[in-house]
Amino acid sequence: MANQVLGKIIGQEEAAPGIYFMEILAPEIAAQAKPGQFVHVKCGSTYAPLLRRPISLHSIEPQVGKIGLLYQIKGQGTKLLAGMRSGQAIDLLGPLGNGFQLPAGLGKALVIGGGMGVAPLLPLLQALQAIGKPATAILGFNDSSSLLRVQEYASCAEKLLLTTVDGSAGEKGLATAPLERELQTAEYSIVFACGPEPMLRAVTAIADSQGIECQVSLEAYMACGIGACLGCACRTREEGQERYTRVCCEGPVYDSKAVIWNE
Ligand SMILES: Cc1cc2nc3c(=O)[nH]c(=O)nc-3n(C[C@H](O)[C@H](O)[C@H](O)COP(=O)(O)OP(=O)(O)OC[C@H]3O[C@@H](n4cnc5c(N)ncnc54)[C@H](O)[C@@H]3O)c2cc1C
Ligand code: FES
Repeated sequence: MANQVLGKIIGQEEAAPGIYFMEILAPEIAAQAKPGQFVHVKCGSTYAPLLRRPISLHSIEPQVGKIGLLYQIKGQGTKLLAGMRSGQAIDLLGPLGNGFQLPAGLGKALVIGGGMGVAPLLPLLQALQAIGKPATAILGFNDSSSLLRVQEYASCAEKLLLTTVDGSAGEKGLATAPLERELQTAEYSIVFACGPEPMLRAVTAIADSQGIECQVSLEAYMACGIGACLGCACRTREEGQERYTRVCCEGPVYDSKAVIWNE
């Protein structure tokens, strides 16, 4: 069940240029949240921007009532967020959406993220570690200056593979190169992915070609965040039938086979 709460900001630091990690005391959300869910954040105290902004849960600590957000400054909303300081209140709606599903009898998992898409994957890796199934993680970034919280990912993954487009850290190239290698050499049963759409399409095609189940976390522009406005509709296919589903409610995480990608 989603709550509207006034959380208390207890930490805000720059994790990479233009990217911030904000910690918030919000026990009601932390108690219910699952990896892959998000909060809809009111980014300022005035009417502008009118709409809340969706941000994934990057850390979930129910024992201490804390959540964490990792976000990049893109426009007005996230700029306002970055200007907020410890001690301030922040208006949150959440936890929202359907997160990653851990199937019964889960085998070996591979978690892959690109750019800001790595944000929701940390709690997923922690959840997999907690059930005794630490996953392989592949994280792809543009360059060494945009690496995000790599130590935190390393501490809960069985194996961490890094790529950068310019080769300034880890393997040079896209995250999909080590993905192809891993899926060919190890017995994975599932892939979880989050990142830009071209990457998710490529990950889906690679997982499909190996006959491996894949879940993808999609992004869409959102208005209400709670299923009322249909602003976040995405085309999906279920049992051969095409239909629109709402990324904020039925998503953001989908079985990759259900997604009809934009041409
Ligand atoms: C379910 C979900 C989870 C998300 N999690 C995160 C996260 O953990 N960290 C993070 O940094 N961002 C995340 N985003 C994207 C984030 O919501 C947008 O970057 C943010 O809303 C931009 O708001 P703004 O006011 O700063 O920029 P705006 O002025 O609204 O937009 C500036 C530019 O940002 C881009 N943008 C805006 N909204 C979106 C969107 N929904 N999807 C893709 N691009 C967008 C567009 O290129 C736009 O031109 C998530 C989005 C969704 C839907
Ligand atoms: S944002 Fe309104 S229905 Fe999804």
